[in-house]
Amino acid sequence: MRFSTTFFLLVCSGGVIALTSDLRIPQIHLSHASVVGKTVSNTEQFLGIPFALPPTGRRRFVPPVPYDVYTGVINATAYGLACPQLGGPPGNPGPPPAESEDCLTMNIIRPAGLKSYTRLPVAVWFHGGGFLFGRTESNDGTPIVIRSMELNMPVIYASMQYRLNAFGFLPGKEVEAAGVGNLGLRDQRMALKWIQQHIASFGGDPYKVTIWGESAGAMSVAVEMITNGGHTDGLFRAAFMQSGSPQGAGDIELGQPYYDFLLRKTGCEDAEYTLECLRDAPFESLKAAVNQTAGLFSRHNLALAWKPRVDGEFLVDDPPQLPLRGSVGRVPFVTGDVDDEGTLFVQPLGDLNMTADLKNYLQTFYLASAHEKEVDEILSLYPDDVTQGPPFNTCTANVAYPQYKRVAAIAGDIAFQAPRRLLLDSTFGKQDSWAFLSKRNKTTPIVGSFHTTDIGIIYAPSDLTDYLIRHLWKIPLLGSFRSKQSTRSSRSKSSSGACQSSSGTS
Ligand SMILES: *[C@@H]1O[C@H](CO)[C@@H](O)[C@H](O)[C@H]1NC(C)=O
Ligand SMILES: *[C@@H]1O[C@H](CO)[C@@H](O)[C@H](O)[C@H]1NC(C)=O
Ligand SMILES: *[C@@H]1O[C@H](CO)[C@@H](O)[C@H](O)[C@H]1NC(C)=O
Ligand SMILES: *[C@@H]1O[C@H](CO)[C@@H](O)[C@H](O)[C@H]1NC(C)=O
Repeated sequence: MRFSTTFFLLVCSGGVIALTSDLRIPQIHLSHASVVGKTVSNTEQFLGIPFALPPTGRRRFVPPVPYDVYTGVINATAYGLACPQLGGPPGNPGPPPAESEDCLTMNIIRPAGLKSYTRLPVAVWFHGGGFLFGRTESNDGTPIVIRSMELNMPVIYASMQYRLNAFGFLPGKEVEAAGVGNLGLRDQRMALKWIQQHIASFGGDPYKVTIWGESAGAMSVAVEMITNGGHTDGLFRAAFMQSGSPQGAGDIELGQPYYDFLLRKTGCEDAEYTLECLRDAPFESLKAAVNQTAGLFSRHNLALAWKPRVDGEFLVDDPPQLPLRGSVGRVPFVTGDVDDEGTLFVQPLGDLNMTADLKNYLQTFYLASAHEKEVDEILSLYPDDVTQGPPFNTCTANVAYPQYKRVAAIAGDIAFQAPRRLLLDSTFGKQDSWAFLSKRNKTTPIVGSFHTTDIGIIYAPSDLTDYLIRHLWKIPLLGSFRSKQSTRSSRSKSSSGACQSSSGTS
């Protein structure tokens, strides 16, 4: 059943190509369609399968629409195009990836040679990129599948794309009224439903799905846990989050200025139905407007323009609040951060020399709605002492600019460490959880164990890969890996202590 043993035809735009039966060409059936993949090392890969109708034309800015039925032949030998991107990772000025609004695709990588009745655990990867950029092609799951075979705990790797920036996270009252907020998150949920429906055809077990991601991908995994009143609807049985937890979102109407900005830039300002006008706008014009909004590695950095927001439907409250109210899927989960989460993001803030500059920055961006007293309190909790900031335990080294270590500590805690601890606290004693803090790559100048280093670690493969695979198989993780809920309570003490002993100064 896995291979076509007779001749089959591939119909493509260039005509009809006849292929002889080739045992190296894997093929599966998806409703009435044949999906033709490819063999890589000891794996079979089905790439770029559309899991929803293209969100283009009249489907722009509407929730994803599933296929009723698949027909014909799906050429699944290459990754699909990226969703329209805004900005990109720092220090990577290569050409932007080819992109298209028609980008809702799924990739499946599995061990070669599965029997048709095999049902393996499935890892579903949610890529990162601040909800602004990113694509599945950047993270090749092949080493993970190969490692799982070596461990004799074979797994299937799946990854999906979702709409990004304005295309996936349009804010504003018009969006709320139309019920089309958080489309990128809805794409992800649809992808999980697709997996329930179809993964058995690939040899996967729909009852053994683990959702897993990094950065915005991990924040998305957290959203999957807390949306829908915490009802998982059987879509997954475990979660694995790397550098991302339930994140403060704010009301969708707070993003109104960004919606209005798009209207002005696309000539939709005076339209009777502005959302319709945006739907009809040429892609180039919309894309050029989005391109003028702040990216992740700009001065705004973590104060994102386009991001999940409370829309009253997909997110009925601020994500950190939902687990506190019990709205969280009771599945076992792993959540980890790197030690120096904030360093990468605050690189563009080199003009923050004095406490007053930092205060002004916080009041403008990170803590715009906080009272002055609260901002002052935060500043006193994060003293102007470079030995206490990240990269932690590096004493007076790595001071990129005077307020660098201080703002990096604040950014890392606001966006990563504090939400992670809140999730652990609010679920403690109610479900199994494990936490980790990665201090690897600590010697990287300026940034230390910076955000994203753990992607390289888990895809390497490495010991972290093995933890993931064990989690997928629900094999108890090593005792030492278990969260004791006290991992970081004494960091400032231990960091200054380490600094004193290694530098001999105080
Ligand atoms: C399938 O897609 C790949 C990559 O885009 C392409 O090189 C190949 O020619 C396609 N095959 C057919 C039969 O269309
Ligand atoms: C996006 O903006 C950057 C500079 O901010 C510019 O270099 C690039 O050409 C723009 N791309 C598009 C598609 O407008
Ligand atoms: C900040 O300090 C740098 C040198 O450390 C100096 O060149 C720059 O002018 C200062 N900026 C402000 C706004 O004070
Ligand atoms: C982190 O450290 C490992 C091992 O030293 C190295 O192979 C890897 O390239 C480093 N990663 C980054 C992002 O610097």
